Amino acid sequence: MTTLTLPGLADVHTHLRVPGGEHKEDFATGTAAALAGGITTVLAMPNTSPPLTTPDALALAYNRATAATRCDLGLYAGASPEDVAHLPALGEQAVALKIYLNDTFGKLRVEDLATLRACFQLWPRHKLIAMHAEKQSVAVGIGLAATYGRSVHFCHISRRQEIELIADAKAAGLPVTCEVTPHHLFLDEGDATRLGPLGDMRPILGTADDVAALWEHINSTIDCIATDHAPHTLAEKHSDSPPPGVAGLETSLPLMLHGVVDGRITTDRLIQLMATNPRRIFDLPAQPDTQVEVDMTPYTISNDNLYTKCGWTPFAGMAAAGRVQRVTLRGQIVYEDGRVTAVPGSGRVVL
Ligand code: DOR
Ligand code: ZN
Ligand code: ZN
Repeated sequence: MTTLTLPGLADVHTHLRVPGGEHKEDFATGTAAALAGGITTVLAMPNTSPPLTTPDALALAYNRATAATRCDLGLYAGASPEDVAHLPALGEQAVALKIYLNDTFGKLRVEDLATLRACFQLWPRHKLIAMHAEKQSVAVGIGLAATYGRSVHFCHISRRQEIELIADAKAAGLPVTCEVTPHHLFLDEGDATRLGPLGDMRPILGTADDVAALWEHINSTIDCIATDHAPHTLAEKHSDSPPPGVAGLETSLPLMLHGVVDGRITTDRLIQLMATNPRRIFDLPAQPDTQVEVDMTPYTISNDNLYTKCGWTPFAGMAAAGRVQRVTLRGQIVYEDGRVTAVPGSGRVVL
């Protein structure tokens, strides 16, 4: 058995569904899934019910996270037209601001220019702005980054046109960064047809050419791998109006390690994409005495023994390399041989 030792990974894009969606996931189950995937810091998105757009909503989520998280966890505040006046206060309680420019799960959206300008003027300058931006909306985000001279992080970039535009923006010296998900790297529109609602998410799965473009930029333009872990129950997925989103916390590292075994990326690059870069870009606290030990024996991903409450993965049946064997967080064993040993509340909420 070959063992690989990695630093604790950071996933800057998860939906842990608190408050209001606890039948899909909660902080205790979502962070158990994170540890099982070798991830020791997660950032949770604000498209909850209610959304995290007011100091009260954010304080409630913060308290729930403090009581329940098993790894380190930071919260995003959400931008909404009604709550722009709260932005400076929200900056005290959240790691970053999330702006949704395009359609996705939930009602959180910014579609007017006045709110966009307010976000860039009022959100504290030392904290990051992240965007769900697709197609032309990526150009809107780049324009705002240039106009206000502040960093913008693009979530789940999925298309050739988008990654090439971000490459151009970076070449022009603009302060933009981006993440890509494992599902956009390992699945395409053919899989969307095969999987039906279980292969539906926003952004939707791309063409083979989109996937090729992402891999072409894996050693350059792409800054982070982030899961966009977006669990929904199988009943919801098989309903008449299935919500978009798929789980990803437990499969991200095994899939990326498969990319290492295939020679598509190096282990050093994987560490940059999954640990060093996300921690630097979001200014996340270091975790001393923290490591992930991985058994590199190949295996097939399955729906069995998942910690995510939704209990399924779109990657079932796919080849992976690297089963997480043991995770140590600040000197404590938090996951070992398939068992999460960290208790709810043992992780830290980070700002
Ligand atoms: O597929 C998605 N699901 N994309 C998003 O942007 C949101 C997410 C969710 O919250 O379910
Ligand atoms: Zn999104
Ligand atoms: Zn998301």
